[in-house]
Amino acid sequence: MAKTRIAVAGAGLIGQEHCKLIAASDAAELAGIADPAPAARGYAASLGVPHFDDLETMLDETGPGGAVVALPTGLHLSAGRACIARDIPCLMEKPVAATLKEAFELARASEAAGIPVLVGHHRRHSVDIRLARETVASGGLGRIVTVSGMSWVDKPDKYFDVAWRRQEGGGTLLINLIHDIDCLRFILGEISRVSAFTSNAVRGLDVEDTASVSFEFESGVLGGFTISDAVASPYSWERTSGQALYFPHQPENYLFIGGRDGALEVPTMEHWHHGAGGGDWQSELFRETLPLDGSQTYENQLAHFLKVIDGDEPPVIDAEDGARTLAVLLAVKTAAREGRVVEVAEMLEGL
Ligand SMILES: NC(=O)c1ccc[n+]([C@@H]2O[C@H](COP(=O)([O-])OP(=O)(O)OC[C@H]3O[C@@H](n4cnc5c(N)ncnc54)[C@H](O)[C@@H]3O)[C@@H](O)[C@H]2O)c1
Repeated sequence: MAKTRIAVAGAGLIGQEHCKLIAASDAAELAGIADPAPAARGYAASLGVPHFDDLETMLDETGPGGAVVALPTGLHLSAGRACIARDIPCLMEKPVAATLKEAFELARASEAAGIPVLVGHHRRHSVDIRLARETVASGGLGRIVTVSGMSWVDKPDKYFDVAWRRQEGGGTLLINLIHDIDCLRFILGEISRVSAFTSNAVRGLDVEDTASVSFEFESGVLGGFTISDAVASPYSWERTSGQALYFPHQPENYLFIGGRDGALEVPTMEHWHHGAGGGDWQSELFRETLPLDGSQTYENQLAHFLKVIDGDEPPVIDAEDGARTLAVLLAVKTAAREGRVVEVAEMLEGL
């Protein structure tokens, strides 16, 4: 079977990972790379694919089946529009766009043209996150009461040499917490209200390095999440899952889901429960490990994108769904900035 040709815009940190995954795939091949940075030309040559300075020229000259947009977030809307105008489905890195207005604009353009946009919230393709969602949905934990999670990582100082990462939108909320929020929505349903504190005290940059967030879900579930890019620890999905690109695997947990009948640790998938006889806080709890299928998150994402391109599956997360994750993230930022509880619906007013 002919391989699906995929072009990649932006050959930076994540763009290069997409290039490697496509190049290694049996079902896809790299059609070209667009990136004006001086190093990108040599990078494209090293992979034996054509190089372009801009996305539009690459799309016109290579006519790919799909495109990966791994550009700075401020360029997502225009890049998405360029793909849609040429009937080319795209895998749009997260956040789907820089603002909610832009995100919904992209969602509407995608819907009107019938050209899918898959948002790069890759954890939706991760076996642990999928199993957590299924366990909750099947009632395996009983009525869900609470959730608690953390993402504590230590980014190197040189990570912040890239200007956009030091500016509004480049902090750990929009870069990292947005994935955790997307997972929480995916596993537990819509979030209705948030409150939050943020701090830039450790790195002293304009953007936050640390935050603590409280969530209320539409279901009534209450939860909390702490995040920092300045902590040496194993407690993040990236490290604990062994699923993330360019991170060592340190088996631990980063997310704890609590229900009336049991609790689940993610990603070790330890399911704690009282057994058939039931019990309470003074009786024994049994630990059962739920089996994972061993597949790899980013490979699963690429496989899904190929099905989206072929029209065999709708995007697991489309531009509108990505916009709803962005809305929660912006509610968190607003809550921290204004020191108040923020309804997510407030972010969506007028959109
Ligand atoms: N899903 C994930 O795991 C993940 C991980 C990292 C980043 N991201 C997201 O991916 C996007 C890119 O992040 P990054 O960390 O790779 O950024 P980066 O700065 O490392 O790379 C961006 C690249 O885009 C290139 N570029 C800039 N303007 C361009 C243009 N007009 N046309 C073509 N190329 C252009 C730059 O030269 C650079 O090489 C961001 O939206 C980010 O939030 C997602």
